[in-house]
Amino acid sequence: MTSTTAIGYQTDLPSSAPNSLFAREIPVAETGPHDLLVEVEAVSVNPVDVKLRKQPSGDFRVLGFDAAGVVQGVGEAVTLFRPGDEVYYAGSIDRPGTNQRLHLVDERIVGHKPRSVSFAEAASLPLTSIAAWEALFTCLRLPLEATGTLLVVGATGGVGSILVQIARALLPGVTVIATASDEERADWVRGLGAQHTVDHRGDLAEQVLALVPGGVDWLFTAHSDGQIETYAEVVRPFGQIVAIDDGPRDVSPLKAKSIGWLWELMFTRPLNQTADMVEQHHLLDQVADLVDDGRLRPTATHTLSPITADTLSEAHQIVGGGRTLGKVVLQGWT
Ligand SMILES: NC(=O)c1ccc[n+]([C@@H]2O[C@H](COP(=O)([O-])OP(=O)(O)OC[C@H]3O[C@@H](n4cnc5c(N)ncnc54)[C@H](OP(=O)(O)O)[C@@H]3O)[C@@H](O)[C@H]2O)c1
Repeated sequence: MTSTTAIGYQTDLPSSAPNSLFAREIPVAETGPHDLLVEVEAVSVNPVDVKLRKQPSGDFRVLGFDAAGVVQGVGEAVTLFRPGDEVYYAGSIDRPGTNQRLHLVDERIVGHKPRSVSFAEAASLPLTSIAAWEALFTCLRLPLEATGTLLVVGATGGVGSILVQIARALLPGVTVIATASDEERADWVRGLGAQHTVDHRGDLAEQVLALVPGGVDWLFTAHSDGQIETYAEVVRPFGQIVAIDDGPRDVSPLKAKSIGWLWELMFTRPLNQTADMVEQHHLLDQVADLVDDGRLRPTATHTLSPITADTLSEAHQIVGGGRTLGKVVLQGWT
């Protein structure tokens, strides 16, 4: 049986503790009919990795969702990829993660890696692109000819940094207002295409309503805790909000303006094995084309190397700090 080096955790130690994450040799499971066996070249760390690491797992659990790598083998029903293809993907929360050299993933949630960028740059993209794309096009159902104003709360984070770019690349009639708490961060989001910035540490409602007195049409949020009253002020009647963070939320203040509240979870399709799961393959391929056409750029701001328990712990500490600009990626193995 083939084995692989994997980095995982067993107990909910803080990421600064020695051995909070550790390497182990584990067997590679059998390749399922729709599976690709991928040699992982680069990964990124997302807040979900940090949240899961804080839950005791009992068994050795391998985290990591984003990956970029090369297909080594394919299951008998695979039609979308061949060995040797370069791929990028975000995997699924109900399977072992990508913090291992050899990783199995269902082809229907995998895209061809953008050709023009490195594995590390590619690894910054899949999970956040799926979340952003589904928030805009599956949840808010924005048509490409949409006109109006979108407020992006959390624009400097992983999802916000790609969502601002996707909105500007594909929705030319939509004006993007992005949150940023200082000038460096405001420069970052303007560089991604945001037309206006507001400081979420100041009075958000006052700043947004000064720009759009009638309220915004759509609001994307990655940080909604304690904000529902403010959102009720800044969204227009019958406007819509899509949230990607964790509930519960009391959304009753939205009722007087008939404002809609939507959740997006990028694992929904693989977790529920939905009939349209292959849409994640198609959207990742479209994102790759947009990157290769120079219309989107990767969002990696920190690159750590090689991928070890120590560098992964460092990445968990950065992401767990909650102030990440863009994404933290890791590349290469010892
Ligand atoms: N549902 C899904 O599919 C999905 C997918 C990905 C992520 N998520 C979740 O979404 C959340 C964000 O993840 P992420 O990877 O995009 O971002 P992240 O990297 O965790 O976000 C950090 C950034 O958010 C900004 N920020 C922090 N608090 C904020 C607030 N109250 N208002 C506006 N901005 C704020 C920070 O800027 P300052 O330091 O300047 O405040 C920092 O730049 C996490 O809870 C994550 O688990 C969900």
